[in-house]
Amino acid sequence: MGEDEVQKLIVRGGNRLEGRVRISGAKNAALAILPAVLMASEKVSLYNVPDIIDVRTMLRIVEDLGMTIRRRGRNSLDFYPSGLRGFSPPYSLVQQIRASSYLMGSLLGRFGKAAVPVPGGCDLGPRPIDQHLKGFTALGADCRIEHGLINLTAGKLIGAHIYLDVVSVGATVNLMLAAVLAEGRTVLENVAKEPEIVDLANMLNALGAVVKGAGTDVIKIDGVKKLGGAEHMIIPDRIEAGTYMLAAAAAGGAVTVGEVIPKHLEAVTAKLREMGVEIEVEPEQITVSRNGPLIPSDLKTFPYPGFPTDLQPLGMVLLTAAPGTSVITENVFENRFRHVDELEKMGAQIKVEGRAAVIDGGLPLSGAPVAATDLRAGAALLVAGLIAEGETVLGEVDHIYRGYENIAEKLNSLGAQIKPQQLRGSSKATGDPG
Ligand code: UD1
Repeated sequence: MGEDEVQKLIVRGGNRLEGRVRISGAKNAALAILPAVLMASEKVSLYNVPDIIDVRTMLRIVEDLGMTIRRRGRNSLDFYPSGLRGFSPPYSLVQQIRASSYLMGSLLGRFGKAAVPVPGGCDLGPRPIDQHLKGFTALGADCRIEHGLINLTAGKLIGAHIYLDVVSVGATVNLMLAAVLAEGRTVLENVAKEPEIVDLANMLNALGAVVKGAGTDVIKIDGVKKLGGAEHMIIPDRIEAGTYMLAAAAAGGAVTVGEVIPKHLEAVTAKLREMGVEIEVEPEQITVSRNGPLIPSDLKTFPYPGFPTDLQPLGMVLLTAAPGTSVITENVFENRFRHVDELEKMGAQIKVEGRAAVIDGGLPLSGAPVAATDLRAGAALLVAGLIAEGETVLGEVDHIYRGYENIAEKLNSLGAQIKPQQLRGSSKATGDPG
C-alpha cells in the first residue's frame, strides 16, 4: 500500500523504543531549494531529497513549469531546465502546499513575472505574506492580488535594503530567491537564521549566486546575471530528528537518530536534558535514553536557534508524561494548539489561555479515535498513541505523510506497533485545507 493511500494508523501503545533510525533530508530545505532549481540554466543534481508528499507536489509543480526531471534513486534527482517556459503554476497543486509561495521569488527572479495562487499549507492560524510582498515591492516589483492570484511583475529587479518587521522563514527564502538575479546589492535585515536558510544559500552559491551571511541576522546578496548548474546534498531534517528524539523520551528506551547535524538540535537536547533524559551527542548522531521519570518543564518556542514551533505539539505530548505542571508558550504562531482537543480525548489535562498551554502531566493517556489536525500535530498524536494505554486510531494521516518519510516503518523498526489501514469505499481526502 502506498503512503498516499493510507487513511488511518492504528497504534497499540505501551512499547518502549529501542534502536537506530536514519533521518531523511530536510523537508523545509527541499521545499526552498526546488524553486531555486527553476532559476538554474544548466543541469542540477540533488541528493538526500525526502520522498514525502509535499516534495512530490513541489516536483509536480516544477515539472508542470517545463523542467525535465530524472529520478536516479528514491532520494536523488537530476533536473534539466532547458524546456522551462511557465511562470504561472497550477492552482490545484499550489493550494496544497505552503511553500509554493517560494515560486513567487524564484519565478519573479527568473522571468520578471509570476502569477501564483495564494498558497495553502498547514492551518496554524493566520499566515500573512505581507513581508514577502513588501520585499518584492522594495526590489521594484509591482504586486497585485486579483481573483486569488498574486501577480508580480518587474521590468527589472534592483537590489535594495530591506528590514523585515517579523523574523520570517518564508519571507527570507522568497527575498533571497528574488534578489540573486536582481541588479546590484540587496541587504536583508532581521532575517530568519534557520539551517534551511543556510542550505538554500549554499545551493544558490553553488549555482553561481553571491549570498553572504546566511545563518546570521543580515544577508547580503550581490546580484548576478545568470545562474548555472550545481550538485547539492540536502541537509538532514532536524524536525524529523527531533520527532524521534521526543518520541524516545516519551515512550522510554534508547534511540539513536543518525545522519543528523547535532548543532541543529541543541534546543531540543538542552530541553530533554532539563527533563531528566540522557543524551549522548556524537559527530553525526544523537542517542536519547530514558529509564527514570520525566521532570516537568516550561517550553517556549522561538525562531532558530530557539525551540522550534514545529516540535511544540510533540513537546506537549512529552510534557503530558511528566508528573507535575508544565507551561508551553507558543511565540511563533498565534493559534497552534489545535492538537489540544485531540489530546484531551486521550485523557490529557491541558488548559489553553492565549499563547500559553498549561499541562497537568503524569496521568496516563488512553487510546482513542483522534484526527491529525495538521502535519506536526499528526506526528504528536502518533507519539501520544505510542505512550497511551490500548489502541489509538489516528485519522487524516495524509497530513503526516506530507512531511515524514516512512514514519510508521521507522517507528515500528524501533519497536512500536503501528498498522497502516486503508479504508475501503470512502473517498481519499484531498490536499491540505489550511
Ligand atoms: C516556515 C516553515 C514551518 C515553520 C515556520 C516557523 C516551511 C515550508 N515552513 O513556515 O514549518 O513552522 O517556518 O519556523 O519552511 N509572518 C508575518 N508576515 C509575513 C510572514 C510571516 O506576519 O509576511 C509571521 C507568521 O504569521 C508567523 C511568523 O511570522 O507568526 C513566522 O512565520 P514564518 O517564519 O514566515 O513561517 P513560514 O515560512 O510560513
